[in-house]
Amino acid sequence: MDILAAAGRCTVPEGALGPGELAAHCASGEFDVVVAQLGDDLGAATLGGARIRGIANYAVGYNNVDVAAATARGIMVANTPDVLTDATADLTLLLMLGTARRVVEADAFMRAGHYTGWHPRLLLGADVSGRTLGLAGFGRIARAVARRALGFGMEVIFAPRPPAHRTVGRAELGELAGRVRQVDWPTLVAQSDFLSLHVPLTEQTHHLVNAPVLAAMKDTAILVNTARGPVVDEAALVEALRTGSIAGAGLDVYEHEPALADGLAALPNTLLLPHLGSATVAVRAAMAKLCAENAVALAAGRIPAHPVNPEAWG
Ligand code: GLV
Ligand code: GLV
Repeated sequence: MDILAAAGRCTVPEGALGPGELAAHCASGEFDVVVAQLGDDLGAATLGGARIRGIANYAVGYNNVDVAAATARGIMVANTPDVLTDATADLTLLLMLGTARRVVEADAFMRAGHYTGWHPRLLLGADVSGRTLGLAGFGRIARAVARRALGFGMEVIFAPRPPAHRTVGRAELGELAGRVRQVDWPTLVAQSDFLSLHVPLTEQTHHLVNAPVLAAMKDTAILVNTARGPVVDEAALVEALRTGSIAGAGLDVYEHEPALADGLAALPNTLLLPHLGSATVAVRAAMAKLCAENAVALAAGRIPAHPVNPEAWG
């Protein structure tokens, strides 16, 4: 806020704006830049009459913004990549370990006073070390997860842009060359003990993990999603977890966030977090700084450090 306030006039609405109000503000001609959060719907309808120069999204993802519509109106969008990569990768490992080792059930068990002493079969979980991690996507966060998983002695396979195919060369693999293996999407689904999603939400990735994909996974597999909820058909996931077609799920995002699919919260083999991927004190501060700097650059007509669609001003 200090960075924004030093740069010019800022208006902070009281509470969240409905889409109509947001559209009206965007169209008013009073504002150069909108600083947005993931819950702010900057779709084509909101941007239809917009007379703004830029959108500074307080997130790395920008599925709340219709980038094509923004570009068409000469609106540049900026995001906050890099600073949240490690925190999100850490949370991915937490979900893998926590789901595999039944942390939620175990904690509830302790608090309920059920613990009567060590027992050979108490709350047995699944191994992480030695198992196969499949990464759907191979961007910054997926690579950071790969590095951590290798440290846990996992075998790491990846499909870079599922469901399509794209070959990742040695140079792009960098330090991971020879340590991770590229496979196609069906192979990733079939071979993963942990399937972790690291794709943006697009038309191509909407319901990437649907009923047929869940059916093709191992019945011992655990699904982890720190990307975007609608990448998974959540109703199909609930069914797969209920019938034992997969073993568990660790989720940080939801298809109809903040709502959960019917039955999800009642399943014991899930670990459910409220979209905490980047939620550390230091990371949120770094995101805020980046977001504010992006906003100031956009307002001044300068290309920000992290433009999503630099062609918007082309
Ligand atoms: C969080 O989901 C983000 O995109 O930053
Ligand atoms: C467990 O505490 C063990 O010693 O094996």
